[in-house]
Amino acid sequence: MTDAQQVQQQAALSLERLWPRLEITFRDEADVAPADWRALEMRLRHEWERLFGLLLGLYGGHYDFFYHLEELLRAAARSWFARPTWLKQLDARREAAPAWFQSQQMVGGMCYVDLFAGTLQGLRDRLPSFKKLGLTYLHLMPLFESPEGKSDGGYAVSSYRRLNPKLGTIEELAELACELQEQGISLVLDFVFNHTSDEHEWARRAQAGDHEYERFYFLFPDRRIPDTYERTLREIFPTVRRGSFSWREDIHRWVWTTFNSFQWDLNYANPAVFRAMAQEMLFIANIGVEVLRLDAVAFIWKRMGTSCENQPEAHQIIQAFHSLARIAAPALLFKSEAIVHPDDVVSYISPRECQISYNPLLMALLWESLATGEVKLLAHSMRRRFRLPQGTAWVNYLRSHDDIGWTFDDNDARWEWIDPSGHRRFLNQFYMGRFPGSFARGVPFQENPDTGDARISGTLASLAGLELAIQSGDEQQMELAMRRIQMLYSIILSIGGIPLIYLGDEVGTLNDYAFASDPDKADDSRWVHRPQADWAWRGKVEHDLNSPHGQVFAQLVRLIALRKQQPAISDSETAFVETGNGHLFGYVRHGAGQRLFVVASFSPHPQEMDANLLRVHGAGYRFTDLITGQTHTAEQPLRLEPYQCVWLEPSSLPKVTGEPSEWGTSYPSEMLTEEQNRKIPRFPSV
Ligand code: GLC
Ligand code: GLC
Repeated sequence: MTDAQQVQQQAALSLERLWPRLEITFRDEADVAPADWRALEMRLRHEWERLFGLLLGLYGGHYDFFYHLEELLRAAARSWFARPTWLKQLDARREAAPAWFQSQQMVGGMCYVDLFAGTLQGLRDRLPSFKKLGLTYLHLMPLFESPEGKSDGGYAVSSYRRLNPKLGTIEELAELACELQEQGISLVLDFVFNHTSDEHEWARRAQAGDHEYERFYFLFPDRRIPDTYERTLREIFPTVRRGSFSWREDIHRWVWTTFNSFQWDLNYANPAVFRAMAQEMLFIANIGVEVLRLDAVAFIWKRMGTSCENQPEAHQIIQAFHSLARIAAPALLFKSEAIVHPDDVVSYISPRECQISYNPLLMALLWESLATGEVKLLAHSMRRRFRLPQGTAWVNYLRSHDDIGWTFDDNDARWEWIDPSGHRRFLNQFYMGRFPGSFARGVPFQENPDTGDARISGTLASLAGLELAIQSGDEQQMELAMRRIQMLYSIILSIGGIPLIYLGDEVGTLNDYAFASDPDKADDSRWVHRPQADWAWRGKVEHDLNSPHGQVFAQLVRLIALRKQQPAISDSETAFVETGNGHLFGYVRHGAGQRLFVVASFSPHPQEMDANLLRVHGAGYRFTDLITGQTHTAEQPLRLEPYQCVWLEPSSLPKVTGEPSEWGTSYPSEMLTEEQNRKIPRFPSV
């Protein structure tokens, strides 16, 4: 018998034993709601073999495996019966149309409740502004109970069942979720599951010497084991604290703390931790969350001698959570937050793990191209790495509440004759405004004195040059900054996937340096791009087209509305094409009877694209740029103004059939004259 057959047999046998016991426990619930019981049974039987196999692999060696298994099933069933009716209806709708999140109607926004609107009630009052922008996805950053003062912006959670009382209550959040749903907006919350705060009840019990809870974390009496681990670990917040462990004087222990010293890493090798967190996850799902943002996924499994990032067990744990969600909260989607090497980022994305994921590579490379004015690394990397499995999607963003790290692949860079570490140094200098001619006003984050590594903080507008332009009063710089912002938005809105706006950026909010005088924030420069929203100011600028902020807003609102009218942007593939001009990034979206050819210029000077390439990739002769309404014909080269992005739709019958090659380099050369063929410039080398 193969291993797979053995697992299959063990799974079947286990369910045969467990199911009758569940029937007894939930007899009353099943009597009251027989249809719900049948639905649960159907989904459980469907998922069982997979869930069992994953848990057996992770925890099969524990003497109490079967106990945990049974408790997990009970928790799932309890959670299903506690699930509000509106969510069960949503479950049915989402199960019937599982590709819902791939529609071009999707537009995401994210914000901190306190900084954006004070409280949940305040946020509710902002619903009209979300509608105006066209949001269909709203990520509210951590709003659960967390320590006073330093809490990593709420990413140190003290209770997954209670909200920070300053923001509101769980009941208010549940009402908001329901109201958002009625308005066509899906609620997205974090599942901060790699660590809890040191004030979480489990951590408190561990501090009190309760052995059961000590095993929830990684506690060590001396440096022996921490030192061994640290030989292969990366430092995440080196300016706050060196290494990955923190000494706790009160309990005389070293504690594993990948992030801040008050964020204690959970030990998922302990099945009790998996079970406890699964229950918290199902609780959060039942509040009315449609997308769970899985925070810091890369770090959840530790293995000595490795980087303790992206371990195979991390995937098994997420898949097991996913499987439980399919049983007890089927509408729930997972979104991965893995800000790591691009190969590792994609490893979390699958219909059975995380259906959606941040796209940190696109984000970083858009900024990279803006700094260099050249698209070679962006184009090369996207050709190789943008494609995802069916049933999954990227979440494309320009800024988030976190820093920008230059997470491109070193060999992708070398392929384009770029020295990766020199290039990262250049990018950091550029975005810190230290490079001659730089338009950016960013701030270093976590500069590591040993490795020279650093990341960048700053708002979209400040990084794109608006801060400098406003300060210097330079009209031309202002114009260029506005164009950069619009061009970047035009890309994330058309490239395929869910565009995500870091709220504040829609009106071109500038950096806020006040954090430096707040002792709870001063050591974390990410606060420079997390300002308190000033609604009085916004009220004045939002509709003032003489203000750059009003212009950014008006352009974005228009672009979003435009995106929603383009069926080609919904679920289909993006073909990246060779534009023959090293400053122009181009791709084709094709589907639902529409074709869009997007060309974006990263140059501050006018640029041209060969007329023949326009015909070949655009599959037409006459085009309308949907953004400006202007028409172009393939009689002459396509001319783009500085930082212009066009969304070209062919308006005449296509003269060329067949798709442009996905790899872009081999367009049908028989369409070009010999002379044209020779003239197509290749990207210049550095
Ligand atoms: C995630 C969050 C970040 C936080 C970290 C630790 O990366 O986005 O803000 O610092 O996790 O929870
Ligand atoms: C987390 C942090 C982010 C950091 C990354 C490093 O995602 O939020 O700031 O760059 O980890 O892996």
